[in-house]
Amino acid sequence: MSNTPGPLKDALVERPSPWRRVINAVDQTADRFMPHSFTKLTLGLAVASLISEIGIIVTGGAVRLTQSGLGCPTWPRCTPESFTNTPEMGVHGIIEFGNRTLTFVLAAIALAMVMVLWNRRRSHPQVFWIAVGLLLGIPGQAIIGGITVLTQLNPWVVAFHFLLSTVMVSFATLMLNRVSLEVRAQREGRVNLPVVDGETTTWSRGLAWTIFVIGWVVLYLGTIVTGTGPHGGDADAPRHGFDPLIVTRMHAFPVYLMVAATVLFLILVLRMNSSASQRRSAWLMFAAVILQGVIGYIQHFTGLPIGLVLLHMLGSGLVVWAMTLVWDRQRSSYIANRSTEDVRSTR
Ligand code: HEM
Repeated sequence: MSNTPGPLKDALVERPSPWRRVINAVDQTADRFMPHSFTKLTLGLAVASLISEIGIIVTGGAVRLTQSGLGCPTWPRCTPESFTNTPEMGVHGIIEFGNRTLTFVLAAIALAMVMVLWNRRRSHPQVFWIAVGLLLGIPGQAIIGGITVLTQLNPWVVAFHFLLSTVMVSFATLMLNRVSLEVRAQREGRVNLPVVDGETTTWSRGLAWTIFVIGWVVLYLGTIVTGTGPHGGDADAPRHGFDPLIVTRMHAFPVYLMVAATVLFLILVLRMNSSASQRRSAWLMFAAVILQGVIGYIQHFTGLPIGLVLLHMLGSGLVVWAMTLVWDRQRSSYIANRSTEDVRSTR
């Protein structure tokens, strides 16, 4: 640049890149139309995000369990001729197309969340990037959903599709925790409000990690049981050739470890100087893991009726919510802080 003639050098220095210009335009629009603080709208969107992320696990489960996995036989169109289902495709077409449509609801919520957080992206990068992650997860899920259909419901791909949804539930939980704390900090006029608002010890933090890690192992092994079982989403869907009893036992064994770790954790948290939110998360974890274990056994011994399998999928979403809460309430370093109230000064 040192040999560049003066005017050209000025032009090079002054002209922002096209990307920068887009960001500047978004910045100006957000500055005028979007909130500069955490509002009830932000909180409402965070709640809607968590509910809808758990909800789409259930509707995705309904697709699989009603054998509607190929209700729309192709992707991104529903049929080679049409983007929507046609009356001849019957109830399977309606269910599969309904699930695809729900993706747009999720996308609208995630996009709105990024927009209302835009003015806070420098002062609260963690919350902002979680929201971006949730937004990017949607095209990611749409593509994997498409690959699921194009591979005629390959059980490894179906499992990946499901597991990504559970990761999104985990992210949505982290976001709701942070947004609700920020709203509370603002409402109560408090600074430095931490997510970890009570006593923790090496044991309680270690158990929170243990529950979280075993939880993901249990979830992963659950998808292998499903891939081996009868509910493939279509009569001709490929299945794993594993022994159903062995994989079910492999899935159930770490559940015992999880229950043991949860009971220990609950006792510890109740005996320590824990906050109300830490105690709530421990009770929630206990309830979720016991309920899910009971549903798991009943469905196993009653030949996997679809109603119970669907409930087990809802339970998976709740377990992920609970184990993320437990982890966050013991280990997070996030602190809600009102001192960055005037975001313009942080630009
Ligand atoms: C914390 C406890 C548990 C969690 C988080 C959990 C989670 C899961 C998950 C994620 C799936 C796969 C869902 C899918 O791919 O659509 C699954 C399937 C399954 N789980 Fe569990 N599970 C738990 C406990 C149990 C227990 C104790 C049993 C008892 C044997 C059990 C039996 C089953 C069976 C049979 C399936 C296959 C259902 C099907 O064919 O679709 N689960 N579980």
